Parts: sequence; structure tokens; C-alpha cells
Amino acid sequence: MSKVPMARLDRLLANLGYGSRREVQGLLRKGAVVFDGAALSDGGQKIPVVPDLPERMTIEGAPVDPPAPLTLLMHKPLGVVCSHREPGRSVFELLPRRWRARMPGLSTIGRLDLDTTGLLLITDDGPLLHRVIAPRSHVTKRYVARLARPLRGDEAAVFAAGTLMLESETEPLAPATLEPLSDTEARLTITEGRYHQVRRMFAAAGNHVEALHRDQIGGLSLPPDLAPGAWRILKPDELSAIFA
Ligand code: URA
Repeated sequence: MSKVPMARLDRLLANLGYGSRREVQGLLRKGAVVFDGAALSDGGQKIPVVPDLPERMTIEGAPVDPPAPLTLLMHKPLGVVCSHREPGRSVFELLPRRWRARMPGLSTIGRLDLDTTGLLLITDDGPLLHRVIAPRSHVTKRYVARLARPLRGDEAAVFAAGTLMLESETEPLAPATLEPLSDTEARLTITEGRYHQVRRMFAAAGNHVEALHRDQIGGLSLPPDLAPGAWRILKPDELSAIFA
């Protein structure tokens, strides 16, 4: 049987973004931290770091935030960036403010451009992040692109060939699958995650992407009931679906 990981209460809450260890002491002094029905006062007390912690612990009456590892599924809206470092509003600003202080921190699994919408995964689980983006995992990413000009007709063959070289790159792209949806709309499934890859692929085919939306990562689809800007915690079966 695997051992339940334990953490000092004050460190656990500080790492979840509830404040410095001193601020956490303040919460404990007020009796604001309740675990299994009892108010806790000793910051040095060891607490089991288990996925159902939010059902057992409350902070000022509200369920404690889920401990790491935490993975979220978001419908990325237009006009937000995927990096903490890029200028502009970021996807992290759509999450509770306290989460910006979480340790380990949350990162997006790959990136979507400012003007791309759709399925985005956010995690603090480094091994999971690498497993999803590693080329050898062959996790597909599926996009729907609206194009400025009608498809020429040869794009599916060009993208499937595995010989397409993007400007300023030295390695050809892995084969990708294109399905036309109309004259100016196509579904494209890729296995890599190169910089602006989809836009650059259509540019190499003499076209221009006017709108881009990701609707699938591996076998995981963007839930139809998740509005742009909305997010939720990824469920275990959804995690498995990524690699199915
Ligand atoms: N390819 C792009 O060009 N942009 C994205 O946001 C994702 C894939």
C-alpha cells in the first residue's frame, strides 16, 4: 500500500496561496481552519495531502483549494495569453487570484495564441505536462481553422506528406491530417506543437488563418457546455482520455 503524503499544515496552506506562514498562523489563531470537524491551531501539525482534502478541510467556512497535483481544463477565450511572462491579460487571471501564489505553480500544457480559442489544459504536474507534449507520446491536437481564401485542394496531401518545411526551420513537419469542412474551413490534426504551427502550415499552403479553435487533445474533447473563459478541474476519466 502506498503511503499517504503528509505536510505541515502551515506549509500546506502557504503553498496553496493562503498567505505567508505568518498569515496562515493568523488564520489558525482565529479558528478559521477546520479539519474533519475540528478547528486546528497548530501550524506544525501534519495533514494528509489527499485529493479529497477539500471535502475534509474548510478555510473561513469554504472548502480548502485542491492540493497538487491539480490539472484544469479551460475553454480559452480570445484575447488572453498563455504565459505568465507575456504582456497582456493571461489565462491565469481567469483563475482564483490566490492560485497565482500556489507552489508548485500552474502552467499551461502547450500554448494557444492570443487569438486562438478552445481546449487548454493547465497543470502543476510536471511529469504530466511533459508526457502530453513529448513528441514520442504522439498526443494529437485537433483544430478547426477558418481561412481567408478557399482551399486549393492539395493541402491534405501536402500536410500528410511529412515533408513540409516551415520557414526558418530545419526539420520537416510530421504528417498531419486535414479534413475540409467547407471551402474556407478545415479540421487539422497535428502531433507536434511548434510555434504558431497551424497558422504557419496554412501560410505555407498560400492561405491565411482568420480564426483558430482547438477542440481536442488526444481523445479529450472540449466539453460543449464549457463557455469561453470557463474552466473546471479535469476528471480522472478525462485525464485517461488524453492518452487513449
Ligand atoms: N497553431 C497555431 O498557429 N496557433 C495556436 O494557437 C495553436 C496552434
